[in-house]
Amino acid sequence: MGRFPIVLLAAILIIVMPVAAKEYVIGDQKTPVAKGDPAATYVGAEKCKTCHPDKYEDWKKSGHPYKLMTPEEAKAVRPDIPLPEGYTWDDILYVLGGWGWKSRYIGKDGFIITKTKDGQPLEKNQYNWETETWSAYHSGEDKKYDCTRCHNTGSTYDENHMDLPGMVGNWTFRGVQCEACHGPGSEHIARGGGKGVAIIVNESAELCGLCHVRGTSSKPPAKGGFIRHHEQYQELKNSGGMANLKCITCHDPHKPVHKGATNDVEGYGIIKQCEDCHADVAEVFEGSNMQKAGVRCIDCHMPKAAKSAVAESKYVADVRVHLFRINTDPNTEFIFKADDGKEYASGYLTLDYVCLQCHEDKDKAWAASYVEKNIHELGKVKETPAPATTAPPTQPPETAPPKKGVCGPTSLALLALLPLIGAAARRRL
Ligand code: HEC
Ligand code: HEC
Ligand code: HEC
Ligand code: HEC
Ligand code: HEC
Ligand code: HEC
Ligand code: HEC
Ligand code: HEC
Repeated sequence: MGRFPIVLLAAILIIVMPVAAKEYVIGDQKTPVAKGDPAATYVGAEKCKTCHPDKYEDWKKSGHPYKLMTPEEAKAVRPDIPLPEGYTWDDILYVLGGWGWKSRYIGKDGFIITKTKDGQPLEKNQYNWETETWSAYHSGEDKKYDCTRCHNTGSTYDENHMDLPGMVGNWTFRGVQCEACHGPGSEHIARGGGKGVAIIVNESAELCGLCHVRGTSSKPPAKGGFIRHHEQYQELKNSGGMANLKCITCHDPHKPVHKGATNDVEGYGIIKQCEDCHADVAEVFEGSNMQKAGVRCIDCHMPKAAKSAVAESKYVADVRVHLFRINTDPNTEFIFKADDGKEYASGYLTLDYVCLQCHEDKDKAWAASYVEKNIHELGKVKETPAPATTAPPTQPPETAPPKKGVCGPTSLALLALLPLIGAAARRRL
């Protein structure tokens, strides 16, 4: 066969074969456009703003829109954002993150910056906002931006962003926009909007779990003594009696929770508190010494046992975990090594991560001895029946709080806690 018929055959094939539609992904899942409306395309949050201004304003306060920013956007959101040593803004294509925990930087070749300009390993390439420190992220390695499926909207692996060598995949809009959760919205708008009109409303934990997850293991992956970040779905699924709750039972999906660049109030988007469902425990806890000192349910049941940017101490990092239940056995471990040689977290918190974050000079056995006495009512003044005689009332012995736990380094921890307590008290007003 000569050259001509092959070319002809190829030409015929191209004409006859349907053009493959772009395949979109969210998290590790392929989500063809057909899931919402076959004809729909992504139009961007600015288009939704026209008819849903309140949802738009809520969402703008959250971390979702700010995942991948141009230098101009990054400087508007974080006016004091620094650059890795030796770099100027002319070298930066995008800033990665930084709304809440940490900023990384993408160079003009599409790679995440891990080296100095002359190719040496750069130790300080991740800026941590809470501590105002730099740390090392894959220093010296070639680190491609292979993260779009969880960070952006309308992501596809059919092409690479601007054909840059460091980019894996492409996106339609930057950040987690309305359509990352609601599906492409062009048809919804074309038909004038409306309830049930060509738009997805997915209320399941699995929606959030497309991105708030790490890999496919059922136990939460861990590293260096902490759960790694973005594993809220795995944590929730390991939380025993709480595992069947939806994320949106407690969260308004449009509002922020973390204290970040556009949100000053920690817990702002929480629409259901622990006390709403556990009124019995809340009643017992009310009036205990720790309740009076400003300790909250989430301090013990959702400690910062996961790490995004930095760890503050052995048991405290910077992301609250969703395991809720506490194993009170002093001989059990929170983090364990599995047969695959990797670290995972157990499906419960242990007393070191729960109590020693504040009671730094104590140990698990100490904590266990108090848990036995019903931790929720420690130091509570018991209601005693009115004395039958006219003898002068005496102080019942149980009102004297044990002095343990509030001396030594603990006092420092408590001092550090004061602003938090103040903030919590102000919010309740
Ligand atoms: C992180 C995922 C997520 C993002 C991002 C998101 N939504 Fe939603 N949205 C949901 C979920 C889940 C529901 C259903 C539960 C609820 O109402 O809270 C919902 C409900 C809604 C509703 C109907 C409920 C009501 O109160 O009227 C509207 C309208 C809406 N979203 C619009 C938007 C718009 C506009 C944006 C972007 C500015 C947006 N959403 C961004 C997840 C999201
Ligand atoms: C032309 C106006 C208009 C635009 C633009 C618009 N919507 Fe709507 N949308 C509506 C109306 C009207 C409703 C019904 C509101 C209601 O029932 O309270 C609605 C309802 C919704 C709902 C709830 C659907 C349900 O079945 O409960 C979601 C989610 C939603 N819109 C998301 C979006 C998103 C995402 C965008 C941008 C892609 C968008 N809308 C753009 C008018 C619009
Ligand atoms: C499976 C989904 C997923 C993938 C893949 C993913 N991320 Fe994320 N990332 C998240 C989620 C969810 C958060 C926020 C929640 C958290 O940190 O617990 C986050 C947070 C971040 C933050 C902090 C944001 C802030 O406001 O400070 C940075 C930086 C970041 N990711 C970088 C990366 C990089 C770099 C990659 C690729 C090498 C990547 N991520 C891949 C889901 C993902
Ligand atoms: C397409 C991926 C994706 C989906 C789906 C998603 N998230 Fe996120 N989420 C992220 C990323 C990425 C971040 C980090 C944003 C940042 O800080 O820059 C984040 C951050 C957050 C934060 C911390 C920032 C803040 O605003 O307080 C909360 C809370 C959150 N998501 C809740 C949810 C809930 C609830 C759902 C489901 C209704 C959900 N997310 C669905 C990717 C996603
Ligand atoms: C929407 C209601 C609801 C909310 C809000 C809620 N819980 Fe629960 N919780 C439950 C249910 C239902 C169970 C299972 C009850 C049972 O097993 O008896 C449960 C069980 C628990 C358990 C025992 C789990 C186990 O398997 O041992 C703990 C601990 C707990 N919740 C703590 C909390 C904390 C802390 C908060 C706030 C961050 C909270 N809960 C918010 C409904 C809720
Ligand atoms: C000082 C730490 C601490 C605080 C604060 C705290 N808890 Fe607990 N909680 C524990 C420990 C430890 C256990 C496990 C006790 C056991 O198994 O004997 C527990 C057990 C529970 C349980 C499961 C067992 C039960 O009693 O039903 C629930 C539900 C619960 N807590 C809810 C709450 C709620 C709601 C709040 C806030 C009103 C709260 N806790 C505040 C430490 C705390
Ligand atoms: C029982 C209620 C409840 C459920 C269910 C729940 N959350 Fe949360 N979430 C909270 C509370 C409370 C906080 C912390 C608020 C605070 O810091 O004041 C929080 C914080 C967060 C944060 C920010 C962590 C940080 O350290 O700032 C993210 C991200 C998040 N949740 C995502 C999710 C996702 C995704 C799901 C579902 C897989 C989920 N949550 C389910 C109550 C809940
Ligand atoms: C968020 C910080 C914090 C956490 C977490 C915490 N505590 Fe406390 N604890 C305090 C503060 C503050 C006081 C001081 C209360 C007072 O005596 O006025 C205190 C007091 C105590 C006391 C002594 C006085 C009394 O009330 O009888 C004991 C015992 C105690 N805690 C045990 C525990 C145990 C056990 C845990 C874990 C299950 C725990 N604490 C978790 C902050 C914390």
